[in-house]
Amino acid sequence: MKDINMKVVIMAAGEGTRMRSALPKVLHQAAGRTLVEWVAEAAAAVTDKPVLVYGNGGDAILEKFKDRFEYALQAQRLGTGHAVMAAAEHIKGSDYTIVLAGDMPLVRPETIRRLADEALAADCDCMLLTASPEKTPAYGRIVRDEAGRICRIVEDKDATPAQKLIKELNISFYCFKTPALLEALAQLKPENAQHEYYLTDCIQVLYDAGKEVRSIDIGDMRECMGVNTRVQLAEAEAALRARINEKLMLAGVSMIDPANTYIGAEVEVGQDTLIYPGVILEGKTRIGQGCILYQGSRICDSIIGDNTTVENSVLLQSELGSHTQVGPNAYLRPGSKVGSYCRIGDFVETKNAEIGDGTKVSHLTYVGDARLGEDINIGCGVVFVNYDGQQKNITTVGDGAFIGCNTNLISPVNVADGAYIAAGTTVTRDVPAEALVIGRSRQMVKEGWAKGRYHIKRKK
Ligand code: UD1
Ligand code: CA
Repeated sequence: MKDINMKVVIMAAGEGTRMRSALPKVLHQAAGRTLVEWVAEAAAAVTDKPVLVYGNGGDAILEKFKDRFEYALQAQRLGTGHAVMAAAEHIKGSDYTIVLAGDMPLVRPETIRRLADEALAADCDCMLLTASPEKTPAYGRIVRDEAGRICRIVEDKDATPAQKLIKELNISFYCFKTPALLEALAQLKPENAQHEYYLTDCIQVLYDAGKEVRSIDIGDMRECMGVNTRVQLAEAEAALRARINEKLMLAGVSMIDPANTYIGAEVEVGQDTLIYPGVILEGKTRIGQGCILYQGSRICDSIIGDNTTVENSVLLQSELGSHTQVGPNAYLRPGSKVGSYCRIGDFVETKNAEIGDGTKVSHLTYVGDARLGEDINIGCGVVFVNYDGQQKNITTVGDGAFIGCNTNLISPVNVADGAYIAAGTTVTRDVPAEALVIGRSRQMVKEGWAKGRYHIKRKK
């Protein structure tokens, strides 16, 4: 197909009124991607850069997608034919134009590929996708002449009772020869129930001009489920999620309850990793092999090595090595880079923190703006005091150091290799290697002072 210039137009200027949203419909997300990105992903089977016809909320669309698309503004929403006309400058000179609706996220790349291939093979002026499901939704009906050739599409709102009985439906995925499409568009008139320029009327124009229109059956009707309401958005989300999960499971990932496992389209997960219910993997996350992700973890734009476990924790733009354990209830904020054989335990928060191999931060600790070496033990309740009220400062801790419980490290400060900080110390000055630091007031004991002062008297 190398020499053929094929354009794809995605119609996305609809108001999406039924979404009841300030956001343009096609910017709503399902399974971690906007609706129109799903369509563009399918269109990638034939083009890198589809033409996006947009209308309301244009700024948000341009800002979000930048040079992902070519853009055509349809300022007034006068119908699907009018939408494609808005893209005329972009498709002029091409051989073929595929037209897709931007609110059908379930369309598969294979389907677009097939539509293109069959249109080329048949050398017809328009190839369209149809379906004949048991239950007929309010779609356009395919009307054929006595010879069985497609002669027009009649919209549900314009159909006679007899036409409404037609089972063959227009899906709204088309592949046109561009010159034929442009000629037909020029002849459209908004003379119908909705006073719109219907793209579907191009079919009759082509037929009347003696041009050939053919169809292929989509097979799986689920692919052409449109999203018009939030109810349908949730249905599309579930279908896309099931698709993602199925692919991962077939590639060797175990899921205890796939219906309750939420994995974005761009996420990678290695073989023999086990995922418990309620896990959310987002963005460009990469999980290695043999990991266990226990219930309720949210992992976004993060990279995890092999054989690591995470339980009920949040990881944002962070990295974990292999054989590391995180959680339950840890919070790894952006810039956390944890090595292998580490432990980040319960109620530990890290941020912009490098933590070397074998280091353990087991409980109730804040590690912010820190560089930690290897095989360090951080006791319970340690605070890296990184903020002096004006700026964030860095703390470094050397290999093999021991930071006792309830230590405050007032940054900027350096604790060298093998140093030992006694529990309860507030460290304000650099600590040399292998030194012991005790920075707390000496214990006072007053014998017998509390006699008779029991505060709680339990009722017998
Ligand atoms: C369309 C088809 C119908 C088909 C159905 C399948 C027409 C006239 N009818 O009907 O035969 O069975 O899809 O779902 O084409 N849009 C614009 N600008 C406009 C109008 C629409 O960009 O001025 C976009 C919408 O954002 C949407 C797509 O075009 O993505 C389809 O428009 P919609 O109004 O939903 O068409 P349907 O009535 O569903
Ligand atoms: Ca529609």
